[in-house]
Amino acid sequence: MCGIVAYLGNRQAYDVIIKGLHRLEYRGYDSAGIALNLSSGLKVYKCKGKVSDLENHIANQDTNSTIGIGHTRWATHGVPNDVNAHPHSSQSKGLVMIHNGIIENYSPIKIELQKRGHVFESDTDTEVLIHLIEEIKNNEKCSLTEAVRLSLNEVVGAYAIVVMDKNDNNMLVAAKKGSPLVVGIGEDEFFCASDATPIIEYTKNVVYLEEEEIVEINRGEEIKIINIKNQTKTPYIQELEMSLEAIEKGGYPHFMLKEIFEQPRSILDSMRGRMNANENYVKMGGISEYKQKIMNAERFIVVACGTSWHAGLVAEYLFEDLTRIPVEVEYASEFRYRNPIITEKDVVIAISQSGETADTLAAIELAKSKGATVFGVCNVAGSSIARATHAGSYTHAGPEIGVASTKAFTAQVTVLTLMALHIAQAKGSIKESRFHQILSEMEGIPAKVHKTLQSNDLIYKIAEEFQDAHNFLYLGRGYSFPVALEGALKLKEISYIHAEGYPAAEMKHGPIALIDEKMPVVVIATKGVNYEKVVSNIQEVKARKGIIISIVTEGDSQVKEMSDYSIEIPDVEECLVPLVSVVPLQLLSYHIAVMRGCNVDQPRNLAKSVTVE
Ligand code: G6P
Repeated sequence: MCGIVAYLGNRQAYDVIIKGLHRLEYRGYDSAGIALNLSSGLKVYKCKGKVSDLENHIANQDTNSTIGIGHTRWATHGVPNDVNAHPHSSQSKGLVMIHNGIIENYSPIKIELQKRGHVFESDTDTEVLIHLIEEIKNNEKCSLTEAVRLSLNEVVGAYAIVVMDKNDNNMLVAAKKGSPLVVGIGEDEFFCASDATPIIEYTKNVVYLEEEEIVEINRGEEIKIINIKNQTKTPYIQELEMSLEAIEKGGYPHFMLKEIFEQPRSILDSMRGRMNANENYVKMGGISEYKQKIMNAERFIVVACGTSWHAGLVAEYLFEDLTRIPVEVEYASEFRYRNPIITEKDVVIAISQSGETADTLAAIELAKSKGATVFGVCNVAGSSIARATHAGSYTHAGPEIGVASTKAFTAQVTVLTLMALHIAQAKGSIKESRFHQILSEMEGIPAKVHKTLQSNDLIYKIAEEFQDAHNFLYLGRGYSFPVALEGALKLKEISYIHAEGYPAAEMKHGPIALIDEKMPVVVIATKGVNYEKVVSNIQEVKARKGIIISIVTEGDSQVKEMSDYSIEIPDVEECLVPLVSVVPLQLLSYHIAVMRGCNVDQPRNLAKSVTVE
């Protein structure tokens, strides 16, 4: 969590950094700060709140500098307040630093430093590290880069840091372990950032720092990279494929709404070049090298968190149905600590939008250490998870900025469906006719999602009715059960209304006790093998005066008549329903949250990229 940006070049560093922090605000927004090296000396501006609060705080102050570092925070150590905001300064105030990550052993280091006279202003682990760096620099009489290197050998934990020296207007030192750091290389200018979004409008040339690498950036020179063992590394410069439009709101009031409406496109992009219904094939470059291992897997273990875990649950139904290989879906945070049984015949599928989620990364490392093959399904190219896995397929959803995941989910389900079909065809576990039918239906999904989005006005009206509800229940069976979980998660995370997702039939083992005339119950009741059973579950709710909001298949009359409100979606092959039925649930949450005055793109206490466990 936390977003960091740094600049060294000929532009006004303040402008580049503030713009960059706005782009990275999805990573955390408890407090923000910036340090600039002005002609009058080094100046640190920081405050509690969002980047816009920082801008107000700095208004009319001197910001004239061509070098600077900035930070937007998601608090781990210390409450979000002005003092704990980054950048943090060393004991003499000669060095300043921004940090994304956690220094786990900060406490013993802090005690030692205090014994030697260091005084700390904040409760943060970051301040301890910058004090340590300065002390080592003074004691060893070495360069800043060397002091950073020696210090990083003493710390345990995760970091993406950038350090600036009050006495050197021409140099920045940055390093990375466990948290992402991209270095942008322009014409006589350099950028550092947690992801490429602050960099893209200035240069497409970037270097993704590897684990434990340190980069020294000097004005007018080429960057130098070493690792913490002092080995020199050759920078690998890559060209960014992302476009600037993709990371701007494009006329929508919120990124979340823009991203919901982008789904016909992002689903199509995630299929493009990977399938052809006429020629009856699915082609996935990411699988080819490990095809035998994957086809002969004794078990798939899906590891993920949050919405990605819900995509994993959809995959469980798909893979077992189509490939007949058993699947287990695990919260990465539980899996990594429970001594799981993993063998070389297992294939682990790690799903992650950001590709940076700490628990998912740790689960991957554990699976690799036991000899399993690990396949990644990530949205962010070059991310830590994409690099840590043996093979993988990207979801081509484009940058997702809204903290609540929407288009990443449908892109993940798209890629996982293709993967299941590909393996099933290769194994012969699916009839050619069914394979062809599902593939043909997949081609039509973007248009069906587009059609579903046209229910936006109706969904807005339903949202108006329920904006003051205190609780919501979401029910679904089979493929619609994970969608119920995802619908409930969307609502609670952005509107702060308590919501629970449940398998419809399980309702009678507990949640049914909650149902009264004030309880809205969202039921995914589309056509399929469980339709009649879901009808019975709806009757159980109605018998207790619950309010039914149903998602039904176009032309349905039975459920519609029993419901207080209904939203129709086009008829879709059952295993593909989640790709369409989740869309009205995203819109319902979005409208309710906006009506309640919530910040939908940046819900309280959340962050998009959870790089802490
Ligand atoms: C956070 C985000 C969620 C996301 C989850 C997993 O909680 O707010 O939207 O689903 O992390 O993130 P990942 O990047 O691994 O998919």
